[in-house]
Amino acid sequence: MDELVALCKRRGFIFQSAEIYGGLQGIYDYGPLGVELKNNLKNAWWKSMVYENDNIEGLDASILTNSMVLDYSGHTETFSDPMVDCKSCGLRFREDQVPKSCKKEDLTEPRQFNLMFKTNVGPIDDGSSYAYLRPETAQQIFTNFKNIVDSTSCSLPFGIAQIGKAFRNEITPRNFIFRVREFEQMELEYFVAPGEDEDAHHIWVQKRLNWWEKQGVPIETIVLHEVPIEELAHYSKKTVDLMYKFPHGLEELEGIANRTDFDLGSHSKNQNELNIHAKVKLNKDSNSKLSIKNREGGMVVPFVIEPSAGVERGMLAVLNEAFTIESLAENKTRVVLKLKPHLAPIKAAIIPLKKNDENLVNLAKKIKSKLQQLGFGRIILENTGNIGKSYRKQDEIGTPLCITVDFKTLENNSVTVRDRDSMQQERINIKDIESLFMEKIK
Ligand code: GAP
Repeated sequence: MDELVALCKRRGFIFQSAEIYGGLQGIYDYGPLGVELKNNLKNAWWKSMVYENDNIEGLDASILTNSMVLDYSGHTETFSDPMVDCKSCGLRFREDQVPKSCKKEDLTEPRQFNLMFKTNVGPIDDGSSYAYLRPETAQQIFTNFKNIVDSTSCSLPFGIAQIGKAFRNEITPRNFIFRVREFEQMELEYFVAPGEDEDAHHIWVQKRLNWWEKQGVPIETIVLHEVPIEELAHYSKKTVDLMYKFPHGLEELEGIANRTDFDLGSHSKNQNELNIHAKVKLNKDSNSKLSIKNREGGMVVPFVIEPSAGVERGMLAVLNEAFTIESLAENKTRVVLKLKPHLAPIKAAIIPLKKNDENLVNLAKKIKSKLQQLGFGRIILENTGNIGKSYRKQDEIGTPLCITVDFKTLENNSVTVRDRDSMQQERINIKDIESLFMEKIK
């Protein structure tokens, strides 16, 4: 983990937020390469959910959340962790995360601490006009259910996908970006007819494993963990966690929950007319019945299967799998990030052999601009004049291809293309760069 954290800072992936003022615990900023990697991971998820499934629609809902949404969802009452204080060191911990250095007899009795961030809405702060920063992106999918059904031609089964920020006032944020207070979730709520939920749940677990494999996190590195009944979230009938061997241990990367009809049932009016299976609180405030026609033409409240993944945990897993220290000849080593090309922050670096040679630099700029226009992501001009140093840097940040423009290029229009993983170099004609690039990056 230490080496990965150091690389992330040195190369501009991830910084501690407000570092110049001593930081803010559990909050991180994403630098020039971090933002590219994050966007690439989110785009891969979005493509696989929304573009590759005709029955999944996208949504980008608000972060500030009406408190009634979270009252009826059960979060106000139950979204809390047990917290203890250590009378000896004066620090506060989540009950299951007390360090060994604190003695049991020094700990206070656990008490519940609600993890939601509350904020005031509008200019008057009299305590009545508050809202929450959403603790999960899911709730606004449920509250927009009717809007999406009415504005599209959705019929069961169908899904609504969303990527966005979520906030939790974690008692003990830790392990770099693994447990943080501000993070992003990629959540799908997949609505099915009651009775079809268990099969759909099984299918989504498999689909998600396959997706992680495509991002460079092999299925063998993920352990399926069925959450014991006594540990299930209040809305869940069954949850399978995808547990990944993070550098600090085996922990949850993604959870796939069967949320039954709890959420749509909770946010509905006239609940007694809806044959809701889950135990829900009487809703006196909603103005909508969150039901839909089933195949037989009757109205039902669908069950929901929810694959929910954290973007930061995904990044950490992807970086951890890609991070490689290779032994080379003459007792040398190289650090290389073997990221899947579609996730690499920089797709190709164009390197003029000599920094101040106008002809070489101009030609390199031309090649850069051509490849950039293909729309596969960021291409950079690496104009340091030190080819060895450039290769080392591009290996460390995971750039799949380096294209060198040298004096031979000016004579015969050929460039050297170096492959990140094999370090093989081949000489190709400038006119063939685009097709080779597309073949490697796709
Ligand atoms: N809507 C369901 C839900 O939020 P969750 O298991 O609490 O379920 C889903 O969160 C995913 O969000 C987790 O698997 C994890 O990847 C990510 N996540 C949750 N809390 C996090 C935190 N404090 N820091 C980073 N990621 C977190």
